[in-house]
Amino acid sequence: MKVLVVGGGGREHALIRKIKESPRVTEIACCPGNGGISYDARCYPVAATDIDGVVALAKEIKADFVVVAPDDPLVAGMVDALNDAGFATFGPKANAAIIEGSKVFSKNLMLKYGIPTAEYKVFDDANEVISYIKEKNEYPTVIKADGLALGKGVIIPESFEEAQAGVREIMQDKIFGESGNHVVVEEFLTGPEVSVLAFTDGKCVKPMVSSMDHKRALDNDKGLNTGGMGTVSPNPHYTEEIAAECMEKIFIPTVNAMNAEGRTFKGCLYFGLMLTPKGPKVIEYNCRFGDPETQVVLPRLKTDIMDIFEAINNETLSNLDIEWSDDACACVILASGGYPKSYKKGLEITGLNNGQLEGVTVYHAGTAIKDGKLVTSGGRVLGVTALGKDLKSALEKSYAAVEKINFDGKHFRKDIGKKALARR
Ligand code: AMP
Ligand code: GLY
Repeated sequence: MKVLVVGGGGREHALIRKIKESPRVTEIACCPGNGGISYDARCYPVAATDIDGVVALAKEIKADFVVVAPDDPLVAGMVDALNDAGFATFGPKANAAIIEGSKVFSKNLMLKYGIPTAEYKVFDDANEVISYIKEKNEYPTVIKADGLALGKGVIIPESFEEAQAGVREIMQDKIFGESGNHVVVEEFLTGPEVSVLAFTDGKCVKPMVSSMDHKRALDNDKGLNTGGMGTVSPNPHYTEEIAAECMEKIFIPTVNAMNAEGRTFKGCLYFGLMLTPKGPKVIEYNCRFGDPETQVVLPRLKTDIMDIFEAINNETLSNLDIEWSDDACACVILASGGYPKSYKKGLEITGLNNGQLEGVTVYHAGTAIKDGKLVTSGGRVLGVTALGKDLKSALEKSYAAVEKINFDGKHFRKDIGKKALARR
């Protein structure tokens, strides 16, 4: 079986490593991939957003199965185009990917079907939002751009002035483009956050093991929001009791709601949850595997991932038992100095052998090979990942390896998993 993976970050590297374990897979291709991925898959220079280019590549290499990992091609309909061309795929069609592509859609869906989430109001006029916030006079408040915004479309102002400036940037200066035509203003919730990725074929839903992301750039949740600076799995806040409650009140109702809307979701549905004093609530849905959640969830998967992907494609997921290891997993992201703001690229990375290091798995997010050397090529560079019998030992292995890998400006958080350990 020849599998094509669309995307080129740490998440895609983790998917490829897992796909490689399947005895049925003979060849893996990736577009565009990256320097580190090229040790595990043949990389083709086709952009992950280039729908025609990806369909043409799938035909050229005669792919048997195509996995579309990132949000933007899913929302733009890459899976629809691949299916129309006769390819078996993993990932939702555009009419279901809208669950991530439009916050207005997902909030209205939750309201209509009684799925717990923060109270909200939708606006399409900047002055109306500003007067609403002024009248309400409750801070912090939460303002979200409607569409995809590279994970940066959420602001949490602490004052009226901050809120006003944010609304003007999103709706008038259009810093996120058309994504800012509508905004959602919602109630500020509190409580621990949990990421739960779930496999679904629209008929049943099988949640994966839970995880915890660390979104801020600096220790103790300080600094700017990033795509994620590290993850651990399991998330100790997510007890069996809470998992059962989420299944009943959130996961099954969401899959049913999408069916009722004629938007059957097939793929990985990501539930960003907050465990509030009033019970678990949905902060956001994503239509794809999380990054870097995938890097700590998939290493714990024991079942052949291609069996799962095929079962979802064929809508026979309920027949499959998915098994997970009891080990814990930790991923520490090494980022470029300056990330998430501007940073240098092309800096040599030392300490790795063919992109890897013994005792851990190094998932490559932003690396390239230049003149035979591995160099940095993105904000998040590497995800240093280890399994352990418990979270403490997984973290010790990851952090020991982090010390051995170097590049100019290397930045990482020193407190990944610290809160999870304290909770145990
Ligand atoms: P999102 O991009 O929707 O995941 O939002 C980014 C982050 O903003 C989340 O991980 C939360 O930490 C925070 N956030 C989003 N919505 C809310 C809310 N209603 N109340 C409190 N925090 C929120
Ligand atoms: N780590 C959060 C996300 O993938 O959106």
